[in-house]
Amino acid sequence: MKILAIESSCDETSAAVVEKRTVLSNIIATQIEEHRIYGGVVPEIASRRHTEAISRVCDLAVEEAGIKYTDIDAVAVTFAPGLIGSLLVGVNFAKGLSAALEVPLIPVHHLRSHIAANYLVHKELEPEFLCLLVSGGNTVIAEVTDYTKFKILGQTNDDAAGECFDKTARCMGLSYPGGVMLDKIATISDTQKYPLPFPKCSKEYDFSFSGLKTAVINTVHNAGQKGEEIDIPVLCATVRQRVCDMLITNTIKAAEDYGYRKIAVAGGVSANSELRKRMVEECRNKGFSLYFPPLEYCSDNAAMVGAQGYYEYLSGNTADFSLNAVATLDINYD
Ligand code: KG4
Repeated sequence: MKILAIESSCDETSAAVVEKRTVLSNIIATQIEEHRIYGGVVPEIASRRHTEAISRVCDLAVEEAGIKYTDIDAVAVTFAPGLIGSLLVGVNFAKGLSAALEVPLIPVHHLRSHIAANYLVHKELEPEFLCLLVSGGNTVIAEVTDYTKFKILGQTNDDAAGECFDKTARCMGLSYPGGVMLDKIATISDTQKYPLPFPKCSKEYDFSFSGLKTAVINTVHNAGQKGEEIDIPVLCATVRQRVCDMLITNTIKAAEDYGYRKIAVAGGVSANSELRKRMVEECRNKGFSLYFPPLEYCSDNAAMVGAQGYYEYLSGNTADFSLNAVATLDINYD
């Protein structure tokens, strides 16, 4: 079954052709350079660029897969959550394609597709497993009890991990998307230099990153007022360490408490080098199997939408032409 998948939830216009878990093509037109000027995604610009790119991106995906539009068996599309104007471009284009080709339309939840990025490369990975889902907008520990069934064990009470990285990086003068740059330049030489807090939550497995974010902003402002220079690589490394401490501690604890021996990590922040390194060490020590997507599938892409779309289709989750984009939606929406 060949699925043409479309992703346009934020600032990447992507289309892919996926056959079950095999990627035949995956085209991504990124808008990062344009949004960098503004220090973050400008929703109106994002929607316009999606509109301009989507037709060509789909053509390229079909061409690179070595097939014709008439070979496509279904169209999958990210319909939630995300920027509403951006989502609408993908959803409406997918509706048009599905009508023209007379094939099923499969709505895909963005967070479910991030988890499915792991299926593209770890062919043996099947539910049940535990997933740490860390992106720009979400930080969640979820039990993946089936391909389309999830149980949230923990989540952020305020900012997402990616947002914490992006905002702290911005206040240190690093360019958008800050998480990527922060990870690149982080160098620990003196762990005591910036005594940032270790965030804690009253609810087990939950996260909180806003206090850490505020502490970094205050550190930078105080230094500025006193005319002192900030050691940016050390501050970056301290932030990264604190965020990873919280992500890793909660995930390992949840796996032990709930008896999971398979852990997957997904979402844009799963590209973080310290998170990857330390999770490998922790899971090796505990005897857990660990799954990460390769870097090319960590950030937004349509290949992961195609992988999840396949399982949504098998579960009977197709849509008619009344399908609408939804800005905010729980991962268990049905
Ligand atoms: O999953 P994603 O592409 O978009 C959402 O669906 O939210 O995640 C984007 C987030 C951004 O906050 C970005 O800074 C972060 O992932 N990110 C990283 C790294 N690469 C991307 N954060 C830390 N370290 C990285 N290497």
